[in-house]
Amino acid sequence: MSAPPPIAMLAELTHRCPLSCPYCSNPVALTQKSQELTTDVWLDAFHQAAELGVLQLHLSGGEPAARRDLTELVAGARAAGLYTNLITSAIGLTEQRLRALDDAGLDHVQLSLQGTDPQMADMIGGYDGGFKRKMQAARWISDLGIPLTLNTVLHRKNLHQLPRAIEMALELGARRIEVAIVQFHGWALQNRAALMPTKEQAETAGRVVAEARERLKGRLVLDYVPADYHSGTPKRCMGGWGMVGLNIAPDGLVLPCHAAQTIPDLQFQSIRDTPLRDIWYDGPAFNAYRGDAWMQEPCRSCDLKHRDFAGCRCQAMALAGDASATDPVCHKSPLNAAIQARLAADEQAVENALVYRKL
Ligand code: FES
Repeated sequence: MSAPPPIAMLAELTHRCPLSCPYCSNPVALTQKSQELTTDVWLDAFHQAAELGVLQLHLSGGEPAARRDLTELVAGARAAGLYTNLITSAIGLTEQRLRALDDAGLDHVQLSLQGTDPQMADMIGGYDGGFKRKMQAARWISDLGIPLTLNTVLHRKNLHQLPRAIEMALELGARRIEVAIVQFHGWALQNRAALMPTKEQAETAGRVVAEARERLKGRLVLDYVPADYHSGTPKRCMGGWGMVGLNIAPDGLVLPCHAAQTIPDLQFQSIRDTPLRDIWYDGPAFNAYRGDAWMQEPCRSCDLKHRDFAGCRCQAMALAGDASATDPVCHKSPLNAAIQARLAADEQAVENALVYRKL
């Protein structure tokens, strides 16, 4: 099947991260520093991406500020003509460093928020003093005039803080807030029982977001990723597999989505030895779930198959053991009853202990 050119690229510069969030969606086995791509390989990848049609570059991790060459990478991406977005916890960003990033042409910062007060934020991030440093960094970003988005991941322990998170976005001068109910990929699966929101929390979150969207029209944009286990309809993950964007992992593997390595039979190629254009158009991993020929019933004959593309392939793998199955969170999946039973057990779970991740 022919594919359009990609619009966005996520460059996972490193898996190193000072935080140890229990919902981390990075792979369970992380890439070591010695295996990370060099500055020159990243810069070449940015040029290839721009030639391929990519417009937006998201610099992510782990914590991208852990890379000492971050300013050089931003400057190189801008020289290639890419819009640059830094996705960061802010740990490792000094005022001087932010000024250098601004001078290098950084277009936008997306700052993660683990909670709206030091107790919650530092407990979830597993990093004492992290909240205070984030708030300081947010003020520097605002003073420099760099457009800011707050990115908050919500779950059973902090969903009650959603209204305050929206207020904070306004106070910090953010133009956008991304409200994402925790998705269970990678490390996060180990903490599902402790983090699964209740049905009531999931419904309340939808109402709070809808009300805020109306009230704050023209002042703040709210992006919302609802709790998909509760919704009965699967999400159009990645905007469609191999249709909108691509990821490059810290070691150079080019992935259709950040969790694609959880699908065992896919063959991935590396930016170290294969041109990005060839990987995007002809790579076996990118073509595995393009179009609809790979779909099974009930997706194959479903009216919505070109709207949700059968949901998330990685979630189908994790929950059904088959990446080409209907995403089991869909009410039409034969596995949905079992998922709903598991959801009911998880949301009532008394399990509170969190398994923090470390590199
Ligand atoms: Fe990989 Fe959804 S997370 S397709």
